[in-house]
Amino acid sequence: MRVLLTGASGFVGSHLWDGLTAPDCEVTLLLRNPDNRHRATQSSPGLRVVRGGLADGGALREALEEVTHVLHCAGATKALRPAGLMAANQQGTRNLVQAVNERRDRIERFVLISSLAAGHPATSVSPAREDDPSDPQSAYGRSKLAAESEVREGCLVPWTILRPAAVYGPRDTEFLPLFQAAARGLAPVFGGGKQELSLVHVKDLAETTLTALTHPDARGDTINVASPEIVTARDLALGIGAALGTRPRPVSLPWWLLESVCMAQTVWSRCTGRPTILGNGKFRELSAPGWVADTTRLRERLGDLCRTPLEAGLQQTAAWYRKEGRLKPGSADSRAKQA
Ligand SMILES: NC(=O)c1ccc[n+]([C@@H]2O[C@H](COP(=O)([O-])OP(=O)(O)OC[C@H]3O[C@@H](n4cnc5c(N)ncnc54)[C@H](OP(=O)(O)O)[C@@H]3O)[C@@H](O)[C@H]2O)c1
Repeated sequence: MRVLLTGASGFVGSHLWDGLTAPDCEVTLLLRNPDNRHRATQSSPGLRVVRGGLADGGALREALEEVTHVLHCAGATKALRPAGLMAANQQGTRNLVQAVNERRDRIERFVLISSLAAGHPATSVSPAREDDPSDPQSAYGRSKLAAESEVREGCLVPWTILRPAAVYGPRDTEFLPLFQAAARGLAPVFGGGKQELSLVHVKDLAETTLTALTHPDARGDTINVASPEIVTARDLALGIGAALGTRPRPVSLPWWLLESVCMAQTVWSRCTGRPTILGNGKFRELSAPGWVADTTRLRERLGDLCRTPLEAGLQQTAAWYRKEGRLKPGSADSRAKQA
């Protein structure tokens, strides 16, 4: 088989690429900047790299040569304006689906990495199921839902849509500020930290995605991908401290402060032309009572693949940040190490 992977230069995509190591599996990467990749070319026999983005029809067609399976992981998580998210996530997916349809005689599966944000907020009382009516809270969530529709309504080859919960693990940058705060002895939480979250370790997500790529029971389905563990924001912040060997002090911050930060970041982002993840209505998403996924379908279709316990996953993540020198000098973490 030959797999086209988009988004290999990103956090999740890099782990998907790491997992594509079966002897009968060759890989094609579609990359806007081929220098943005974490593995050396020579480590993957048969590797093809095609330069281009999702708006480049010629590059998409070139990238699909000899391809039998498509893993569409590329996606924008931030943009200056909602239209930028739609362009990357909806229109980009539409372009790829159209190019895939031209090769439908050869392509056996199309997997889209969507997001739990395309669904609706939910707590442990009634976790979000895949067939519930969607109610995305941010422009990002709406763009991922629109990408899903492109696949459901337009894709002529067997497809699978995966909806990962918040992803953490080595190479992630979004959870890094929480680790850095915990390393300084602080566990900042908003609104008392009662928000309930599903999470998925990136290696579990990669294993699940690669299983879904060929699994007959994943055809034509939308599947949440999350660990069965549910954690409150407060316990997550304290768990990160424990993974670092610190006992951070919980600091409860008001929601209005986060809203102000999101507004300020939006203004700053538009002035500087540098996109922020906190823009485009992200506050509503971040302040929802919970993002808890029902994982019954995942277990029924693909098995018990999201097995990494949160404690172990946070320890692995902390170890990676330390190795990479991402926990700044002068922090409680580095002082503990010196002691
Ligand atoms: N991280 C999470 O918690 C999470 C949760 C649920 C779902 N997801 C989904 O998982 C996927 C990967 O997310 P991530 O966290 O790994 O993000 P990331 O680190 O920002 O990586 C995004 C990847 O998408 C590529 N990309 C973005 N816009 C593109 C475009 N217009 N054309 C071509 N490539 C484009 C980037 O390429 P460049 O290097 O060229 O910029 C990069 O390879 C996304 O689809 C995201 O929606 C992530």
